[in-house]
Amino acid sequence: MNAWAEYLGERAARRRLLGLQRTLFVREADTPLIDLASNDYLGLSAHPQVALAAQRAAQEWGAGARSSRLVSGTTQLHHELEAALAEFTGHPAALVFSSGYTANLGVITALADADTTVISDQHIHASLIDACRLTKATRVVTPHNDVPSVEQALSKSSTSRHLIVVESIYSVLSDAAPLQELAALAQHYNALLIVDEAHGVGVTPPNGRGVAAAAGLAGHPHVVLTATLSKALGAQGGAVLGSPEVIDHLVNQARSFIFDTALAPPAVAAARTALSLVTPPVVANLRARIKQAAQQLTLPTPAGAVLSVPMPSAESAIAAQAACRDAGVWVGCFRPPSVPDGVSRLRITVNSGLAEVSWQHALDVIAEVVNSRHNNGIAQ
Ligand SMILES: Cc1ncc(COP(=O)(O)O)c(C=O)c1O
Repeated sequence: MNAWAEYLGERAARRRLLGLQRTLFVREADTPLIDLASNDYLGLSAHPQVALAAQRAAQEWGAGARSSRLVSGTTQLHHELEAALAEFTGHPAALVFSSGYTANLGVITALADADTTVISDQHIHASLIDACRLTKATRVVTPHNDVPSVEQALSKSSTSRHLIVVESIYSVLSDAAPLQELAALAQHYNALLIVDEAHGVGVTPPNGRGVAAAAGLAGHPHVVLTATLSKALGAQGGAVLGSPEVIDHLVNQARSFIFDTALAPPAVAAARTALSLVTPPVVANLRARIKQAAQQLTLPTPAGAVLSVPMPSAESAIAAQAACRDAGVWVGCFRPPSVPDGVSRLRITVNSGLAEVSWQHALDVIAEVVNSRHNNGIAQ
């Protein structure tokens, strides 16, 4: 056997031993599974108006963008989406990227140099961690939602510039960041607060415009937002929102913007239409389902639309996920290394687009599996 095959075989065997082997589960077009694993919080990915917008854009502009934004990939659609995103979040300007991942990579690597300190929360998403790792900045990781630690890092730092990096709603625990306190610190220390609104857009009451907007921080000069178009908006792509100066800097310096094919026109058009469908009644429906699910699963109501159920082990989480799937319900599963604290969890995503009967059935199935996890042999 060649050395690489041996090495890869050993790695796979070790993952299996630890219960950490990942496999791809193929979704059939006509699957009868009720999907509470996706991030399609508002059910907009299948909304007829969203699908139609994508179809029309493909016919008018083509299936792909054909080149990077700076070459010939910026269409009128990109321009309109950027204006709509800026208006929606209340920030002066926006820049669309090909994904939330590349938006996060772009903004942090373009802003942080060797004379910058990046202070990031322990629970930030992998895309933000990777972005921080790519910089030459001094890096400080603070305990989760610990404002005094952020202040300490700012006051002790010897670099000229500072970034504070958080998520508005954290993807694993579905809890919110103390954005007002962090923005006040950013202002006091002349830092920039980078807030990833991936799980805030479309979800935060009253109008789904994100946690920053709800906290009165729309357009704050020390706050820069990132967002994904692929969760509540049901499309694909990412964005950065901030001052015109920040956006101009990204157009010129963000490598994941410059050296990447532009977001495909059908995704741009889908996101633009989805954005117009995020209204207070739509968000209120989602919030009602989040509350109902939390009550039925005897969990606290989360800030986001994800219910995170701690499981005794990675194996028990996988077994519970399989039990739900056998009963027709698809839920997610977090386990190391995708969890910041090493605790395996079932990840249940609330979806306000599901028919009431499917939603209620899914909740009943999950409640039965979750509530019996300590006494039915799932817990090891
Ligand atoms: C907090 C957070 N940021 C960024 C991303 C990446 O977004 P995208 O899937 O659009 O690349 C995700 C998605 O998993 C996320 O949860």
